Amino acid sequence: MLIRIPALLDAERLAQARAVLATATWEDGSGSAGPQARTVKNNQQLAPRGPAARELQAIVLDALQRNPLFFSAALPKKIFPPMFNRYGGDANHYGDHVDGAVRYGDHGERIRGDISCTVFLADPAGYDGGELVIADTLGDRRVKWPAGDAVLYPATTVHRVEPVTRGVRVASFFWIESMVRSTEQRRLLFDTDLALMRLRERHGESDETVTLTGTYHNLLRLWADT
Ligand code: NI
Repeated sequence: MLIRIPALLDAERLAQARAVLATATWEDGSGSAGPQARTVKNNQQLAPRGPAARELQAIVLDALQRNPLFFSAALPKKIFPPMFNRYGGDANHYGDHVDGAVRYGDHGERIRGDISCTVFLADPAGYDGGELVIADTLGDRRVKWPAGDAVLYPATTVHRVEPVTRGVRVASFFWIESMVRSTEQRRLLFDTDLALMRLRERHGESDETVTLTGTYHNLLRLWADT
């Protein structure tokens, strides 16, 4: 399941993020990769605990917390502090890999990566290549979306970032431990939630929407691990 969150970062937040990125110092990105991923990873990242990353993390986390589509799709329990990467020049790609299952937060707490998220920060017209390619049972999905958009995809998938052959691709990436570990269960809840919202928009509240809302919450009660 691949979910698009359009304009997760609005124009104002995007401008704030770009102002921070303009003066940020990038370092080699291989430090945060496991042994397999390190052999195919060739990009740059911000030092995760540096001042630029801290400022940018606050912008992204604030946007996530205000976004009902993100909440419905991810049902987040823990969010790994967002990281930031840059593809361009000689450091321009990240080959096929699967993200590590367990990450360690700032205070050593474990965060299981159920969902991977990328937030695009560069205008797609400003670079060639750089597609995020996610292996799906229906074939590869190629993702290159406007700045501010986010993509959520199961952390279990093999994925890569194609070489950037012109310009620079900057993005935020991070992982989410969901209250609902199973992708299939999350999908059922998300579809139900979206359908309920549309039903309400079209017909207002009814006995049926009350019943279905109850079913949604009772499924979440069965499946959620808080
Ligand atoms: Ni990855």
